[in-house]
Amino acid sequence: MTEPVAKPDLTTPAQHGAYLVTMRSCNDCHTPRNPKFQLIPGMELAGGTPIAAGVASANLTPDASGIGYYNEAPFIQAMRTGYVRARKLNSIVPWWVFRNMTDDDLEAVFAYLRTLKPVHHLDRGLRVGLGSLGRAIGKDALFKALGAATVANMAGIIDPGRDLRGQGF
Ligand code: HEC
Repeated sequence: MTEPVAKPDLTTPAQHGAYLVTMRSCNDCHTPRNPKFQLIPGMELAGGTPIAAGVASANLTPDASGIGYYNEAPFIQAMRTGYVRARKLNSIVPWWVFRNMTDDDLEAVFAYLRTLKPVHHLDRGLRVGLGSLGRAIGKDALFKALGAATVANMAGIIDPGRDLRGQGF
């Protein structure tokens, strides 16, 4: 027998959104891992996890290197169609699972994402580059290197949030 699970506090949209983010495992793909493959505290949903050949996850925090420029409309479009305006997301993004969430649910998820601490971590060009590197050296090796790099970044040693667009990625 298992114990009944207590109903979480879903009073505010952000609390409801936090619950949905947990249940839909957004963190599994969107929170970077340390070299031991553990999710890195303080980097919740800050992206950069290589998911498949040529693609790493996006930073979902409200930073300029994340989705700070979003409002609800592009977010709901992304979750329902797999496009951010004209940009097609990699087909690994399971938007087809999320598209049947109600408007209230998606608005709640967005409200929760807006409560995250903005984390300056990776831009789109660097994410795509990381995905390609994962294909070249293997995803496990990349996870380890990236975990170490993320920890170094948090210690202020390097800045993986620098903009590498137009520099070969
Ligand atoms: C299977 C792994 C996976 C899961 C689970 C996942 N994502 Fe993602 N997501 C990705 C990847 C990879 C990208 C980057 C796609 C690209 O660059 O084309 C992405 C991109 C996004 C984007 C677009 C950001 C941009 O570039 O503008 C949003 C928004 C997003 N995800 C939200 C979510 C939310 C919210 C959840 C949970 C409900 C979630 N994702 C769960 C892998 C995942």
